Amino acid sequence: MKKSFTSILMDWHRHQNDREMPWKGEKKPYRIWLSEIILQQTRVEQGMAYYHRLVEQYPTIQDLAQAPDQQVFKLWEGLGYYNRCRNLLYTAREIVEKRNGIFPSTYEDLLSLKGVGPYTAAAIASFAYNLPYAVVDGNVFRVLARYLGIDTATDSTEGKKIFDDLAYEMLDKKEPALYNQAIMDFGATVCKPMAPRCSACPLQHGCAALATGKVNQLPVKEKTLQRKTRYFNYFILQYRQKIWIQQRTAKDIWQHLFEFYLVETEKQLRWDTSLIQNYLKDQLNIYDARIGKISQPVVQQLTHQQIKGQFIHIELSQKPASIKTGDWKNTVQIQELAFPKLITSYLKHLKS
Ligand code: ADE
Ligand code: SF4
Repeated sequence: MKKSFTSILMDWHRHQNDREMPWKGEKKPYRIWLSEIILQQTRVEQGMAYYHRLVEQYPTIQDLAQAPDQQVFKLWEGLGYYNRCRNLLYTAREIVEKRNGIFPSTYEDLLSLKGVGPYTAAAIASFAYNLPYAVVDGNVFRVLARYLGIDTATDSTEGKKIFDDLAYEMLDKKEPALYNQAIMDFGATVCKPMAPRCSACPLQHGCAALATGKVNQLPVKEKTLQRKTRYFNYFILQYRQKIWIQQRTAKDIWQHLFEFYLVETEKQLRWDTSLIQNYLKDQLNIYDARIGKISQPVVQQLTHQQIKGQFIHIELSQKPASIKTGDWKNTVQIQELAFPKLITSYLKHLKS
């Protein structure tokens, strides 16, 4: 399974990945370093403009090292975290003054630069020198957690180790530059945070999260579990007289209780027919759903967090082949199972 992950991902990258970015395929470590530092600050779309301006003003590391502080700060304006900009200048000057202007070319040397952590060192080592280091960023956590079905929190000590090891295991050691670009682009365009495109995904057949209905629960973050307000969007999928339910198994609230198809989001979404239909199409390959009632948000206050729930009734004309776990139960069967209060209250209110 692990082997095919890598080769399928590489095939996707070679034949289907059409994401374009100015730093793609770049081999100059200076430019890779600039782009990665910018992308720690902002999203790709906004980052491009900053990248172009900086590269144009300072085509080489010597140019950057010689620039007046204020001029560089001005070009950095809007990105925030001026410490990072200061580190950028510091490192440029250090490389010019102490290393003859030659960018370090080993992972350890890269890591010793101010402002360069494991992620950036792996990015430069792989993109510039094709060294076998795996980048581990949010995209990588998400793709691996879902594909392998890992619910250890990515931001826990244990999780960091697990994902670092797996990232290296999955890495294409012969083509690290291509592979690292592939997994980041894949996470940004197919296995996206919201509404990943599972139905068009070349990895769908080996994907553990898809097989167990946990795509939207993964990756798990300690920070999310501790968040004060969480947004649970429940799709009540109905086929004939039966409704799809699953048991909660993760180390999270409501363990062992039952629930409907859950989409947890970072904020309250404005669900409407087209958003729901897109979701069903992209994620579950469902094209013929009838969207019923969309409830108002309802709240359950727990000791340490508040759950804001929303219920969306969806009538299906067939059982979706994409959902392989959980159960289809009628209303009598459902009454015998234990659900969180958020759900039972909603169902009671529906009846009355
Ligand atoms: N995010 C940060 N670096 C990236 C890269 N090289 N490609 C895609 N997304 C990125
Ligand atoms: Fe990600 Fe879905 Fe593909 Fe699994 S099937 S890897 S969750 S896009």
